[in-house]
Amino acid sequence: MIRLSQPHLGREEIEAVSDVLRSGIIASGPVVRRFEEEFAAYVGVRHGIAVANGTVALHAALLGAGVEPGDRVVTTPFTFIATANAILHAGAVPVFSDIDPVTYNMCPNALRATLQRLADAGTPAKVVMPVHLFGLPCDMSAIRATAAEFGALIIEDAAQAHGAAYNGRRAGSFGIAGTFSFYATKNLATGEGGMVVTDSDEVAERVRRLVNHGRVGRYEHDVLGYNYRMTDIAAAIGLVQLRKLEQLNLRRRMNADRLSRALAGVPALTLPVEPEGHYHVYHQYTIRHPRRDALAEALRERGIDSAVIYPVALHQQPLYEKLGYGNERLPAAEEAARQVLSVPVHPSLSDEDVQAVADALREAALALA
Ligand SMILES: Cc1ncc(COP(=O)(O)O)c(C=O)c1O
Repeated sequence: MIRLSQPHLGREEIEAVSDVLRSGIIASGPVVRRFEEEFAAYVGVRHGIAVANGTVALHAALLGAGVEPGDRVVTTPFTFIATANAILHAGAVPVFSDIDPVTYNMCPNALRATLQRLADAGTPAKVVMPVHLFGLPCDMSAIRATAAEFGALIIEDAAQAHGAAYNGRRAGSFGIAGTFSFYATKNLATGEGGMVVTDSDEVAERVRRLVNHGRVGRYEHDVLGYNYRMTDIAAAIGLVQLRKLEQLNLRRRMNADRLSRALAGVPALTLPVEPEGHYHVYHQYTIRHPRRDALAEALRERGIDSAVIYPVALHQQPLYEKLGYGNERLPAAEEAARQVLSVPVHPSLSDEDVQAVADALREAALALA
């Protein structure tokens, strides 16, 4: 079976972890500090605060940016549930704004309408949280301009977009803060892990304190914080992966390009796009097809793994239905949830594997046409 994802780990990661184990410092120590510095420099901002995973990175970034209970945070309904849950964890109110059906990312026109509606209701948005889904950056010029017009901050969820760029600027560097996940399947993987990045000294200082029990000095704590720390073991893997990231992303792009060339023109099959000025890092290669479940089954019979990411728009998740979101209509997100299918694109695929994915998808789609 050609798997949907596979961590790309080698001897260097094993040696880096062994060095940490031999050092005797296995919790948060000097390797975490180095990873923070190198990752922030890579994104193009001044501060990085490494944390235990991408979900707590979002929570810490929201609190660090000054989000308070009851504040409105506008995000996309077509993302992993952690994005919206982190808003709930901060005591804030997630507001879902529909996606662009072509890019699957937050639609700037829908965002304008959502921000206007919130302003008219006397509950203006505090934060806009775009998600660079599947590794494709959002239309950040339009989103920044619209957020600024309504006085909202931007926190980017770049969990799937390590190295992605918009007009030459890396994802995670556009707002007051950006967050990343280093979960096992991500373009940069440490097993579990995350990072908050920011150019703001003030936000960095608050986040650093929050993720370490509000600590200001030895056994001195001035705010209610958390233990969200990363370990040196994870950071050691992260440093090695960071050095490989550009190459691994190039490999993903090459695999995506091969798939797109082989699949161009297949009836009813919609391929991912990379609009002008966007640098896509293909965390996922996601197609859409009106009969995607049949397509997934046909791929499975041909030895190709695939996954529906995501099968349910967030406002229709049982949790959010219980919270009163169930009657919202977000048609572009709902239709994407019915039609998308992600197929293998990861950098561990051989050229033959990529060809096999393309052939199987082509045959399966033609058989369904
Ligand atoms: C868009 C998005 N946001 C947030 C997260 C949460 O990250 P983690 O799984 O590291 O907590 C993920 C990843 O799984 C994600 O894909």
